Amino acid sequence: MAAAKFSVTVTVTVLLAVFFFNLAKSQFLCKQSSCRGDFSVAVRFPFRLKNTQDSRCGFKPDFDLYCNNRRQTILNLPDAGDVAVLFIDYKSQSLWINDPDQCFPRRLLIDAFDLKNSPFTSYYRSEPYTVLNCSYPVETLPFDRVRKIKCMSGGNYSVITVPNRDLDMVNAFLPSQCNVIATRRLPSTRMELEEGMVVKWSNPNCGNCEARGGDCGFKTNSSAEIQCFNLPKSGIPRGAKYGLIMGVGIPGLLFIIGLGCYVCGKFKAFTRPNRPTTNLSLSMGHQPTSAVAGLDKPTIDSFPKIQLGESRRLPKPNDTTCAICLSEYQPKETIRTIPDCRHFFHSNCIDEWLKLNATCPVCRNSPEDSSAASTPSRTVSMSASMSPRSVASLPRHD
Ligand SMILES: *[C@@H]1O[C@H](CO)[C@@H](O)[C@H](O)[C@H]1NC(C)=O
Ligand SMILES: *[C@@H]1O[C@H](CO)[C@@H](O)[C@H](O)[C@H]1NC(C)=O
Ligand SMILES: *[C@@H]1O[C@H](CO)[C@@H](O)[C@H](O)[C@H]1NC(C)=O
Repeated sequence: MAAAKFSVTVTVTVLLAVFFFNLAKSQFLCKQSSCRGDFSVAVRFPFRLKNTQDSRCGFKPDFDLYCNNRRQTILNLPDAGDVAVLFIDYKSQSLWINDPDQCFPRRLLIDAFDLKNSPFTSYYRSEPYTVLNCSYPVETLPFDRVRKIKCMSGGNYSVITVPNRDLDMVNAFLPSQCNVIATRRLPSTRMELEEGMVVKWSNPNCGNCEARGGDCGFKTNSSAEIQCFNLPKSGIPRGAKYGLIMGVGIPGLLFIIGLGCYVCGKFKAFTRPNRPTTNLSLSMGHQPTSAVAGLDKPTIDSFPKIQLGESRRLPKPNDTTCAICLSEYQPKETIRTIPDCRHFFHSNCIDEWLKLNATCPVCRNSPEDSSAASTPSRTVSMSASMSPRSVASLPRHD
């Protein structure tokens, strides 16, 4: 029995050592942060919030963000000034930016918005557009690719953009009172200019790490090398750790389990009810835990929500109708998405649904972590759904 005790002690010590070794390795990593405290725009490596996070939490000053007094997340572009960051997709390494004061097209069309000297490039290919100022209120646009810029148009005039390749065709339709005010390369996408634009970065390359569920960061306090930390256990463990666990941890664990079983055997009477049995009252007793299923308000509130622009364009072009109330999305309506499933619904519809069911009404995926879902504890499920990786993707349509 003394030998057994010794073995237990050694095993526990080794397991603790492995645990703290891991802690120490990831200690340098920075916690993610956000301007609103709700992680609607989660800030983590390669970005950092300049005034609250250490400089080593961000990749370079180019990726520094700050919160303005309206709690918008602001990025300063060297040749384009401040933009508000609406969403960061760490997996595809892209971010959705807009003007903090809501007329982004003015900056694109008049101020010659330029991404040069920044680490970002347009997510979409761009093409030349002609910007026209027409001295009458343009109401119907002759072609889909002709856009009216509402925030730049007045009661008596309209600013419109026309792809250069369509200019001849459009000219035939428009009355003559339109003056060319600029020619610009603009993203060739169906996203309205008022909705901002999507830009991407390629260095540092953390998308793969993020996709696998890891945390990206500088390798050490002082190195310039990037490393992927904290990959979920399903990932391939690093050699040394693997060997340690295989060599010492597992035999020790088996021993503990064996010892446990021996003890269990002694108290058979107590263990029996815990096993899955055909006992009817017991299985019924278990049912409520898995059938309660609805989510609480903080969890639901943590799911990403966006307000639709005039174009009502969604990341998935076909989803124009809310699958719950079956009505079409209207401009200015607030829609919400379920993390990792990317289906959209009216916020008020999905909120009611999620209070009763924890699964997506379309694909039946649970927004909760599978481990969290099987745990009755709400705190666990909440932290799982607040997880930075569970946000929807950027609008991607062309
Ligand atoms: C367009 O024309 C109107 C007058 O017709 C003028 O007030 C407005 O500033 C012009 N807009 C631009 C962007 O040039
Ligand atoms: C439009 O122009 C007319 C004269 O050209 C003017 O009387 C009217 O006030 C203008 N309306 C607006 C909304 O600017
Ligand atoms: C990081 O480096 C600074 C000095 O450069 C040092 O004071 C600090 O202790 C280091 N932190 C870690 C976690 O190594």
